[in-house]
Amino acid sequence: MDLFIISGGSRGFGEALTKLALDQDHGVIAISRYEIQNTSSNLAFYSISHDLSDFTGLTEKLEKTLHLFETHHPFDLQSVHLINNAALIEPVGPLVNLEPEAIQKSIRVNLESPILLTQFFLQHFNHFEGWKTVTNISSGAAFRPIPSWELYCSTKAGLKMFSENLDLDLMDQKAKVISFSPGIMDTSMQKHIRSLSPSQFPRVVDFQKMKEEHQLRNPQTVASCLLQLLSLPEQIGKVVYDVQEFD
Ligand SMILES: NC(=O)c1ccc[n+]([C@@H]2O[C@H](COP(=O)([O-])OP(=O)(O)OC[C@H]3O[C@@H](n4cnc5c(N)ncnc54)[C@H](OP(=O)(O)O)[C@@H]3O)[C@@H](O)[C@H]2O)c1
Repeated sequence: MDLFIISGGSRGFGEALTKLALDQDHGVIAISRYEIQNTSSNLAFYSISHDLSDFTGLTEKLEKTLHLFETHHPFDLQSVHLINNAALIEPVGPLVNLEPEAIQKSIRVNLESPILLTQFFLQHFNHFEGWKTVTNISSGAAFRPIPSWELYCSTKAGLKMFSENLDLDLMDQKAKVISFSPGIMDTSMQKHIRSLSPSQFPRVVDFQKMKEEHQLRNPQTVASCLLQLLSLPEQIGKVVYDVQEFD
């Protein structure tokens, strides 16, 4: 059994990862604002309700949940995985129109919380003898600017650089860091993007067209690519991965 800690497990890609990991008989601790009901027969599932725009109190909730997990599932864990998946596309629009609070929330959820969760994970599992992996969910937006997406692009670019830098600094021979771009997936984030007005997001028509032309990836298919990669940590040979490499 492996253990997965997944942020944003309630919807979209995070939900697909959570369900697939449970189907593969792994343990999952999922974090999102809203409590997640376990619909699987696998009971090694714990939902933590927490708003990642404020990290206060999360480490205590995680310690408590990890203790519960270890008490109820005292098996030898092969590997432990952190998947920093939760992210916000908002705020979208010309910078001068954005609320300062929305700007701060984007930076906290998309960049600060993955860094703090990673620090917690590496400290908690410092003496763990199996494999440890940290996956930060990236995006094409980490590589190129997109009009009106200043916050999303810059936080994703920051997260990608954090992944590459962490990899340089990790001394643990049995730890791997990945920055994984999942491609454009059919999730509520895409639905929200398609609902934006052209004045907020000039490229909205391109995203509406991609949906009409069935170009969006199925999150379940992308989840199986990532879990396949994480199932063999010793074969992970680099930091930056793109789902296209699995086509
Ligand atoms: N969809 C795409 O086309 C696409 C493309 C490239 C990269 N990505 C990346 O893939 C990842 C997953 O995206 P998605 O499309 O699945 O997004 P999504 O459908 O919007 O789901 C986002 C998840 O993040 C959680 N979340 C949002 N705000 C949160 C907060 N303040 N505190 C705690 N949890 C929060 C949500 O849970 P709650 O609402 O319950 O809190 C939800 O589970 C993201 O990192 C995204 O940037 C997506």
